[in-house]
Amino acid sequence: MQVKRFGVSLEDELLKRLDRLIENQKFPNRSQAIRYLIKKHLVDDEWECNGEVAGAIVLVYDHHKRNLQKQSTEVQHNFHHLILASQHVHLDHNNCLETISVKGNAHELVTLANQLIAIKGIKHGKLVMSTST
Ligand code: NI
Repeated sequence: MQVKRFGVSLEDELLKRLDRLIENQKFPNRSQAIRYLIKKHLVDDEWECNGEVAGAIVLVYDHHKRNLQKQSTEVQHNFHHLILASQHVHLDHNNCLETISVKGNAHELVTLANQLIAIKGIKHGKLVMSTST
């Protein structure tokens, strides 16, 4: 892909903060950091605009909790058109980590994630958003 150069003018304080971000997140240079920030903003925008997006729902739960897996399966079947794949890892004797890869309408994905995270016994749940384009 062709790369174009352009100049950016920033206030001293903002530039210092950008450089701190570069240092903390180990970006190789300012261009890479600015590229990341623009992309992040565009992805957030797509989610807000309700476009077609991709992401993952991460769930941690105790598999001994009664009905939890049954409920989770039911919710996932209701939204099967959004689910690409899921992976289940047994973390220890009690805890499971489930990663569900999803793609589709942003608001529908949020609804799916919220319904899963709301199931009684889910210890932690998070929807990670990305882009599908
Ligand atoms: Ni398990």
